[in-house]
Amino acid sequence: MSKILEKALNTQFLEKSEIVELLYAENAEQIFFAADKVRKEYKGDAIHLRGLIEFSNICKRNCNYCGLRKDNKSIERYRLTKEEILDCTKSAVELGYKTLVLQSGEDSYFDIERLSEIISEIKKYDVAVTLSIGEKTFDEYKSLKLCGADRYLIRIETTDKNLYEACHPDMNFQNRIDCLKYLKNLGYETGSGCLVGLPNQTIESLADDILFFKSINADMIGIGPFIPCENTPFENLKAGDFYLALKVMAIARLLLPDINIPATTAMETLKKDGQILALQSGANVIMPNITDEKHKKLYKIYPNKGAYNEKDNPKKYRDCLSQKLLSIGRFVSDTKGFRKDI
Ligand code: 5AD
Ligand code: SF4
Repeated sequence: MSKILEKALNTQFLEKSEIVELLYAENAEQIFFAADKVRKEYKGDAIHLRGLIEFSNICKRNCNYCGLRKDNKSIERYRLTKEEILDCTKSAVELGYKTLVLQSGEDSYFDIERLSEIISEIKKYDVAVTLSIGEKTFDEYKSLKLCGADRYLIRIETTDKNLYEACHPDMNFQNRIDCLKYLKNLGYETGSGCLVGLPNQTIESLADDILFFKSINADMIGIGPFIPCENTPFENLKAGDFYLALKVMAIARLLLPDINIPATTAMETLKKDGQILALQSGANVIMPNITDEKHKKLYKIYPNKGAYNEKDNPKKYRDCLSQKLLSIGRFVSDTKGFRKDI
């Protein structure tokens, strides 16, 4: 294992067989240590906080793992108004957020015109805007870029085409890849990522996922363990393995040393202090949920979502987080935290 890690540190490249060996390794401490070292060298000790606004839980898709899927009739649906989104923006800016992430299900109500208006208003503040609103056409991505969106998150979820199709009824794998290409070509900082622990997912396919992130030169990578959600086809499956997800994330850091990698909420949900472990294994970003209390509860992609103390109000949570970060030798960044910033 030491040899493979040394090669990764020196060349930022590994063969699939080498990644597979790391993913199978029993004692992964060395991998986490190496990823932490690379993170420190390339990104420093600053943590970028991205304020997450979940502005609609309405979705036309039917992803088999997700609680927001269209066929789940048991959840209450909502859309925030433009005013509510802008109020949330204002409070976030006052708290010091330099990036806002607008996330929703694939909700056609928010067409390009509505989104453009909202983005243009948000861009009057000095913040970066990240969108996480699913598959769109090239022209739609282009319009959103033109009104000021800086970044876009769209996970590939898995690069195993058969598994992709088994998880995503009526979705097209190639289209997903095309979306990532469009976004890159349009100059978005582009984020991808995968779920760890999907049914029948193999270690080999996770290695392919990591190589895929490298091949598209992703600017951000979000890795999360799968968490079973009631009232979905995958409700009775077992959750993904926290440490396997952490390994996938750490290896992504080794191969893409200068990108932004969040310690995902799913990691915290699966394991107490999971996000801190992630920050000590290659991650350098946290995305606190700043959606108001009432709506946050309804954005149930899986149960018990959110850090245990995220139920506090956004100010209290941010203060608490800042303290916690200081206690592990890290601090909250005051920049927008683009990939090339440092
Ligand atoms: N467990 C973990 N992550 C999930 N997501 C959706 N449903 C689940 C689940 N049950 C993730 C997907 C999606 C992101 C917004 O949330 O990877 O891209
Ligand atoms: Fe919709 Fe995204 Fe959930 Fe799929 S993962 S059902 S696209 S909200």
